[in-house]
Amino acid sequence: MKSVIYLATQNQHKIDEIKDLLGDLFDFRTVFELGLQTEIPETGSTLQENSMQKAEFIARHFGGISCLADDSGLEVDALGGAPGVYSARYAGESKSDAANVAKLLQELATTANRNARFVTVLTLHHQGQFYVFEGEIHGQITEEPRGSNGFGYDPVFMPEGKDLTFAEISMAEKNQLAHRARALQKFKKFVDESRIFQQD
Ligand code: IMP
Repeated sequence: MKSVIYLATQNQHKIDEIKDLLGDLFDFRTVFELGLQTEIPETGSTLQENSMQKAEFIARHFGGISCLADDSGLEVDALGGAPGVYSARYAGESKSDAANVAKLLQELATTANRNARFVTVLTLHHQGQFYVFEGEIHGQITEEPRGSNGFGYDPVFMPEGKDLTFAEISMAEKNQLAHRARALQKFKKFVDESRIFQQD
């Protein structure tokens, strides 16, 4: 039987990516299926703080479940690592993907250095312990948005070695190389090696 892991996110795109990659091995559900009414807090100043904060919050609310929290962000070299931990709210509290992308392109309008990276920090909470996994991918910010797949900054992020943005490739292709997929592969390797779910 597959182990049940609750995902500490309401972002359907993240849920889809995680299920697409590891849904055959784990029974992923969301904490909102448990009746969580409030927004999960993320007030830290780093991705790792936020990722752990989300997992801790869920662990406090619901004892005895295993949960996986994700905090991710885009770090742009020419902007000193911004938007980083503020990626979702870069253009304001409405968390609009289109507004965030527009602001990013505006900030980089006269900048030749388009280097950037996506980073994901996953935190697994299982039987009172926290385990952290990180994944990253380097690439370039395009001049214009391209493609309609994915979410967030996908239309303006072209991963190293590709001529297409994340929004121009399929979810399966994105899951072969992207930051979240890389962190999830580390999570899977750890689970396989430690066999922590077989001790349930
Ligand atoms: P979080 O929900 O606090 O982790 O916010 C992550 C934000 O970073 C999202 O709202 C997106 O703007 C951006 N982001 C994270 N991962 C991705 C991705 O895979 N593609 C595009 N944007 C992403």
